[in-house]
Amino acid sequence: MAVGSHPLPHPFFRPERTGAAPLIGPRELKALLDGPSPPLPLDVRSADERRLARLPGDVHVPIDQLPSRLATLPHDRPIVAYDQFGARARQAAGLLRDRGFPLAAALEGGIDEYARVADPDVPRYDLEASAADLIVRQMPRRDTGCLSYFLADPVERVGVLVDPGIEVAPYLALLHEGGFSLAAIVETHTHADHLAGHTRLHAATDAPIWVSHRSPAQYPHRSLAEGEALPFGREELRVLETPGHTRDHLTLRVGDRILTGDTLLLGSCGRTDLGDGSPDLLWESLTEKILRLPAETEVYPAHFGAHHALPERYVSSLGFERAVNEALQQPSRAAFLTYMTEGWPPKPADFDRIVHENLAE
Ligand SMILES: [Fe+2]
Repeated sequence: MAVGSHPLPHPFFRPERTGAAPLIGPRELKALLDGPSPPLPLDVRSADERRLARLPGDVHVPIDQLPSRLATLPHDRPIVAYDQFGARARQAAGLLRDRGFPLAAALEGGIDEYARVADPDVPRYDLEASAADLIVRQMPRRDTGCLSYFLADPVERVGVLVDPGIEVAPYLALLHEGGFSLAAIVETHTHADHLAGHTRLHAATDAPIWVSHRSPAQYPHRSLAEGEALPFGREELRVLETPGHTRDHLTLRVGDRILTGDTLLLGSCGRTDLGDGSPDLLWESLTEKILRLPAETEVYPAHFGAHHALPERYVSSLGFERAVNEALQQPSRAAFLTYMTEGWPPKPADFDRIVHENLAE
């Protein structure tokens, strides 16, 4: 194909309508999604791409699995396939129409264009640019539903580990394989749901453990307070005190990212009834501190698969959470207090013992 006469397909290029799957523009789709009988958004991206943002009410079938999963899709409801920029969605919509889904269409320009022109609360983010200046390694622990974080300066090869789990071998392997030194181990708060790995990791690396000055920790540690900075290489963690889930809770800010611990989860927030938490303080931390940060701030929580939270989307933005997060939808302090005291699952049986062990030397 000669480039001169047939321009290379641009992500926002509208192809010939004849014979092609219909396209739906971002604003059109937004209006339909807000209307009484919304179409079914179908995300055909990989699970990795889906982590940052997705359309509400969608289903996820990666395009390579689509032919084998057609039976899961409705024939009587319009389906709008989407991806990051539009090209794979058009392929998917074409395949669906060929296989007996006459109401299939594709989102023109993908979720990226949708976020730009139709819904600024859907996050956009340049993965490659952000990866270049800071390593952010999210380390899920499938057994506990927890997320640990390794943040590192890729040039100076210095990092920090936040909320490590009790099995420290993966962290040691990561440090060893990447040639990183560990500047600090940080606990966002005293955990009540899982055994923490800070003392084991300290024993293995000699890196200092940092916690809130409000922490009752018995183990050797250094204390952090509001506004303090914890440097690693050319980067630093900035401390925000966000009591509520526990009194000693810290949110850690690195540039335009925040590690929110259990103060803010994706779609919800951490409960306040395991230990010394306070829904009043959590409300204040959320409304007076977290929500005052810019909407494009990326949110990295300490849990996936927690109550109300969505298991596949581990990273979000503050603007997106402001729009969809149940905890942040509560219209008043009183409504928030009700939300925090009703509808939660039973407390873990042994949370007292876990807290005790996590604070021990
Ligand atoms: Fe927690």
